[in-house]
Parts: sequence; structure tokens; C-alpha cells
Amino acid sequence: MAYINENYLKLPGSYLFAEIAHRVSAYKKENPSADIIRLGIGDVTLPLPQVSIAAMQKAVEEMAHKETFRGYGPEQGYPFLIEAIRKHNYTDRGINIADDEIFISDGSKSDCGNIQEIFSDNNTVAITDPVYPVYLDTNVMAGRTGSLMEDGHFEGVVYLASNAENNFSPALPTKHVDMIYLCCPNNPTGTTLSKAELKKWVDYARENDSIILFDAAYAAYISEPDVPRSIYEIEGALDVAVEFRSFSKTAGFTGTRCGYTVIPKSVTAKAKDGSRHPLNALWNRRHCTKFNGTAYIIQRGAAAIYTDEGQAQVKENISYYMENARIIREGLKAAGLTAFGGINAPYIWLKTPSGLKSWDFFDKLLYRGNIVGTPGVGFGPCGEGYFRLTAFGDRESTERAVERITKLTF
Ligand code: MLT
Repeated sequence: MAYINENYLKLPGSYLFAEIAHRVSAYKKENPSADIIRLGIGDVTLPLPQVSIAAMQKAVEEMAHKETFRGYGPEQGYPFLIEAIRKHNYTDRGINIADDEIFISDGSKSDCGNIQEIFSDNNTVAITDPVYPVYLDTNVMAGRTGSLMEDGHFEGVVYLASNAENNFSPALPTKHVDMIYLCCPNNPTGTTLSKAELKKWVDYARENDSIILFDAAYAAYISEPDVPRSIYEIEGALDVAVEFRSFSKTAGFTGTRCGYTVIPKSVTAKAKDGSRHPLNALWNRRHCTKFNGTAYIIQRGAAAIYTDEGQAQVKENISYYMENARIIREGLKAAGLTAFGGINAPYIWLKTPSGLKSWDFFDKLLYRGNIVGTPGVGFGPCGEGYFRLTAFGDRESTERAVERITKLTF
């Protein structure tokens, strides 16, 4: 008799974005002519940078000839991509990261979800609330939590409330935690933590022998000079933090798939017998066992963004999205709504009007404005009463969406 992993039964029926897609397709079925504007899932809409297309075309051609064909590549990624990442994002910014501390993957979602496998089941997990659902769901699947309680919290998880009252900078936990997930710029709130705020977390991790799992998937969207792009800009972080980065939002790779995880060899955690072990070696072991490397063609496309031309193209796309963010943010404010984020991230986090619950606002916006957004509560109990809009739409539909919202009364 085969038994299932019953931890899966603790999870709500479907993943947030699958639930949204389901509701939208039900509405579309009933209203086939509805002109729906989708500002829900944070999926890019601009084509890949031209440099990436050219590099991938060249790589495809290489695959067509015996002399240049590639089979399995290094599981950790090709040196040409690792070196470009290391130089551009770390060495040139004064951060000491070595090539064998960078692991290329098929995207940050996989890495953020898989990283928990190298930690003990008995660890206590802290997550900011609201936050990208992958961190919590994967820990539930692994059995690192109890059941879902009526108030929307999972038993045994330490939730770090992040809301307008604390300026989206959660307080340190009052009980000891082992693994801390931080997402900065934050998905979904679009807000960031300052160097001083991050230092507080690094100091906590050092004092409490905890590990910070730092998701910086949106780092390329930071516009304010003082906001840290990497956790390793913070003194002491090289001993306690793992960092996740992605090409998805940086360079439009949501469908192309490429990301990476940085694990400095100085980041260690204890075994039960008290001996200390570098997480780098554990992750390397896992990566080599379960992953055969990101496709050569894709890695060539990713590496191309680190040329001067590539950087200019990436920046142009990001500016386009951030202009959408400005239009949404200012449009919402002009309509009398309270909105956060949208300055260093492509997400705008709005307070639902008239005290509406997140899913009620979702339905109203869909049924009356034909606009799809993401209910804040889908990112955690503290997201109740909030709603997320993304800046990844095209300009024209973004402007139309704002116009429609302005005309609605709630
Ligand atoms: C989101 O909408 O939060 C993102 O698209 C999810 C993701 O990056 O996986």
C-alpha cells in the first residue's frame, strides 16, 4: 500500500494564481465578450531583449553542428553565465562572491521552493506576512508546520506582520526562529527594507544561529539609491544568508526560465551532533542529484543581458513597466485610494476601499470593471483588506484599467 504525503492535505485546494485563473475563466465563460484587463499574476508582457534573442539563435545554431553541439552541461551552470553574474551583480559592487557560490537554475520559484529540503524538519520557519506563497506552501508540504487554523495561519509558523502600521518593516520575532524568509523588494507589497532594517535581521540571524533566505527577484526594479540590491551589502550577511535572483522579471524570462541562488561557503548550519556544515555543499549535492542544469541555449540568452547593449535593453523594459507603476500608483491616489509600493518594484499594493475583504474586492473589480488583480489575503492573513495590481501590463491597458477603477464606486 502506498500512502500519500499527508502534509499536502493541509494546504488549501489550489495555488493562489491557479485559483485566480479559475475564477477568471468561469467569468469569461459567462461573459465571452468581456474586455478583461489582466493585472493579476506578475507576468511580463514585453518580448525578450534583442540581445537575448540573438544569443539564443546563435546557440541554437551551435546545437545543429557536431563540433559545437552540447549535451549535459555543468549542473551548477556554465562558467560564462556564472562569471557574468558574479562580476556584474557582486564583484563590481564590492561584494566578495566566488563563482562556485552561484548556482544557475530554471528559475527562482524552484529554488525558493526547494531550498527548504536541505534543512531539518524540526526547524522553525518565520515568514513575513503577506508574502510570495511559495515559501510557506513548500514548508507545509515538507511537514515543517502544523495545520491551517481558522484565522488563516498555519500552526507552528512564525508570521512577521508587515503592514501600513509598521511601514511594511516587520518586527523581529519574539520567539526563536531558525529559517527566515525575506523578500525585498517585496512581493506583493512592492515595498523595500532599508540597509538599517536589513541589518537588524542579519544581526538577529547571527545572534540566533538562524539562516536568512533572501529573495531578491525584483532587485533590478530598485530605483532609489539607498535601497540595498543584495543582502550581501549588509555587513555580516555573508555568514548567514542565501540569496535568490531571477531573470524572469529582470529580463522577461518568465516563460524562458532562468534564475540563480547564491550560497557563500561561509554560511553554515548545525547537525544534531553540533558539527557545522556549509549549506553550499549540501545545495551542491542536491542540485547535482536532482537537476541536470539549465538549457545551454537559455543560459546564453541570460548571459547576453550583461553586455552594455543588454543592460541598456533590460533597463528600457524595466523603465516601461515602472512608468506603468507610476500611472497606477498616481491614478489610484487621485481616485482617493491608499496605495503603497510601485517605486522600487512593479507591484502596487492598495488598501481596499470601504473595508472590503480582498476576495470581495477581487469580485467587484472583475464583475464591474473587468479588471483582474490579486487579492491580498492570498499572500497571507495580514494581506486581508489589501489588493495587488501589477505594472507588467501594456501601457494602453494599464491606462484603461486605471480609468475604469477611477469611475467605479465601492
Ligand atoms: C506573482 O505574480 O507573484 C509572480 O508572478 C509569481 C512568480 O514569480 O512566480
